[in-house]
Amino acid sequence: MVNLGIVGLGYWGPNLLRNLVANRRAGTVTICDRDPLRLDRIGERFPGCPRTADFHDLLNSPDINAILIATGVSTHYPLAMQALRAGKHIFVEKPFADTADKALEMVNEAESRGLVNMVGHTFLYSPPVITIKEIVRSGELGDIRFITSNRVNLGLHQKDVSVVWDLAPHDFSMIFHWLDAEPDLVEAFGSCYILEGIPDVAFINLRFPCGAIANVQVSWLAPSKLRKTVIVGSKKMLVYDDTEPYEKVKIYDKGVDLIEPETFGEYHLAYRTGDIRSPKLDSFEPLAAEMEEFLRCVETGDVPKTSGREGLGVVKALELADASLRARG
Ligand SMILES: NC(=O)c1ccc[n+]([C@@H]2O[C@H](COP(=O)([O-])OP(=O)(O)OC[C@H]3O[C@@H](n4cnc5c(N)ncnc54)[C@H](O)[C@@H]3O)[C@@H](O)[C@H]2O)c1
Repeated sequence: MVNLGIVGLGYWGPNLLRNLVANRRAGTVTICDRDPLRLDRIGERFPGCPRTADFHDLLNSPDINAILIATGVSTHYPLAMQALRAGKHIFVEKPFADTADKALEMVNEAESRGLVNMVGHTFLYSPPVITIKEIVRSGELGDIRFITSNRVNLGLHQKDVSVVWDLAPHDFSMIFHWLDAEPDLVEAFGSCYILEGIPDVAFINLRFPCGAIANVQVSWLAPSKLRKTVIVGSKKMLVYDDTEPYEKVKIYDKGVDLIEPETFGEYHLAYRTGDIRSPKLDSFEPLAAEMEEFLRCVETGDVPKTSGREGLGVVKALELADASLRARG
């Protein structure tokens, strides 16, 4: 049994809490928010959870083995470092930290103490993303040539972070996971339309050592919600539409083959349009799987699938995208 503390009971924290209390590996879950109204409101929904408004109570409790941090990104580093120094395993919501230097410090601190450090890259626990990883790994798509990803809607404008830090961690974490690589080039172009100094639209280009390229579009200004990723491989193509209720993933046996010229200067293109297949997806809540992974790793000492190192890789790319954006591409 793992006794836990969770800090941050705003929009996202209660989702983690709901899945924690439902997990058989979790013992007592102490909840913490410095906002007394939020603490009371969530405390009433989870009467079995001890409450505190002071984060130090989590640090000082010898019974608590692990702390989950679901506060705003600027607080991830100070809270995580205090938790690690108090000997607690940590789960930190995405993005892992607000700079790559801080993210690296958190990873080093955790690793030197032998503590689990995990980042909340929730999508990597979702059935479509897991299935796509298996499809890419199997070679069915061939070599991955490029990926495009759209994550736009009329979103909540954040006061302290750009749309890149808010939304792109999802696309970056998925793309890096599928390609098993971090980009060697990141460039971004965007604009601030509503709040001065806070970009609310960004078009980000990435290049990977394998030669694949990717384009990620993120925005809080769009008439409808788009969550669509297209993966184009040398053999087949795949479309992942997370807004679809069924058939979120479709594999298209489509492509263009260059036929070797028989005589110099002559070439021939062969267009292939074959079957469309939609693989059967498992059905479980990604957050339940994410909490299970954290608790399992705390119990066993295993390195989580979304360790702090993955969090660091995403933060590095976010930092580069932000720098490129501010330098106007
Ligand atoms: N994985 C996902 O899909 C996903 C989705 C949404 C948000 N998030 C992440 O979750 C985190 C939280 O986002 P949110 O939208 O819930 O934020 P929020 O502002 O709604 O809530 C944050 C809460 O933390 C509390 N808090 C901050 N510092 C504290 C401290 N020192 N002690 C006690 N309480 C403190 C605040 O009072 C607030 O209630 C962010 O990192 C965000 O990126 C992840």
